[in-house]
Amino acid sequence: MKAEQQIDNTLHRWDLINTYIKHYSFKSFLEIGHDRGQAFDHIDIEHKESVDISSITMPTYVMSSDDFFEKYDTKYDIIFIDGLHEHAQVDRDIHNSLTHLNRLCPPKVLLGRSSDLKVPIAA
Ligand SMILES: C[S@@+](CC[C@H](N)C(=O)[O-])C[C@H]1O[C@@H](n2cnc3c(N)ncnc32)[C@H](O)[C@@H]1O
Repeated sequence: MKAEQQIDNTLHRWDLINTYIKHYSFKSFLEIGHDRGQAFDHIDIEHKESVDISSITMPTYVMSSDDFFEKYDTKYDIIFIDGLHEHAQVDRDIHNSLTHLNRLCPPKVLLGRSSDLKVPIAA
């Protein structure tokens, strides 16, 4: 098979998130850890916001996730936790995110990231 004929079978993190958004008709999304917007820019939803300690790529809120959750009471339908990958911080992000998910929008969806998944495509 020629290189140009190969199928890109990477299931990106934003594909998974967009599947949840579409399936449950979610309207609002928060990403903790915007970075360069690699995922954020692909999220297809009515309202999306992001938090990052770095201002470089202009997240919605430039601050730590701890400060964000303390300062704002906004609720979201789905939250993607991908900020500081340290156990204690991830623990706090999960705990705080659970209080910032819309109660009226079951099921609550909270996603974290390890890496993009590679899924085999059936022949
Ligand atoms: C792995 S990158 C995020 C990648 C992005 N979510 C994606 O899917 O492409 C982690 C980001 O978290 C940010 N970060 C680190 N500590 C943070 C904190 N305490 N609160 C918010 N963001 C943080 C970093 O500046 C960095 O941009």
